[in-house]
Amino acid sequence: MNIVSISGSPSLRSRSSWLLRLAQTRLESQARNTTTIAVRELPPQALLHADAKAEPIRHALDQLADADLVIVATPIYKAAYSGVLKLFLDLLPPDALRGKTVLPLATGGTIAHLLALDYALKPVLSVLGARDILDGVFATDDQLVPHESGGYAPNDILVARLDRALQPLIPRINATRREVAISAL
Ligand SMILES: Cc1cc2nc3c(=O)[nH]c(=O)nc-3n(C[C@H](O)[C@H](O)[C@H](O)COP(=O)(O)O)c2cc1C
Repeated sequence: MNIVSISGSPSLRSRSSWLLRLAQTRLESQARNTTTIAVRELPPQALLHADAKAEPIRHALDQLADADLVIVATPIYKAAYSGVLKLFLDLLPPDALRGKTVLPLATGGTIAHLLALDYALKPVLSVLGARDILDGVFATDDQLVPHESGGYAPNDILVARLDRALQPLIPRINATRREVAISAL
């Protein structure tokens, strides 16, 4: 399985990016190749001007085209996904996600915005052709406790929800390995 992940946080130390890494780790046994597109590292000018021909953007789009599984991770900003992520999604060609499995992930300060994945992000994934969308996983900040390693310690319920979302891809996920789970990004 070729896994391409899109990290939509503008933050360097990012909970949503860390959750994305945790998902990648859980999928290790299934992955032929794992790539992460960090939108914050793409050239801002090209993103703002929707310049899909800029080399780093073209490279990211090529990577996405080859994906079997696309993991999309975002922080919740103002009850929706991040603007940084939207800039990247707007550059994708129509049907960019057709035929791919998509896993949406989000972190937010409040459980009140749990449904942002469903009412904000999923319609965009759908318009891009995604038909096989796995259960979204939303984590609140207090479910990802900062760890001295620079990473986060996820609570057990969150790991169980993530594994359940990944179940269609891995019939039997390995037992939780917390030393992996709390390592730095
Ligand atoms: C500008 C801004 C707006 C935010 N708006 C919301 C919000 O509407 N709802 C929410 O649950 N959390 C909100 N948060 C909190 C973040 O979603 C939360 O801390 C998230 O885990 C950050 O993810 P990141 O570390 O990957 O950037 C906001 C944070 C910022 C900086």
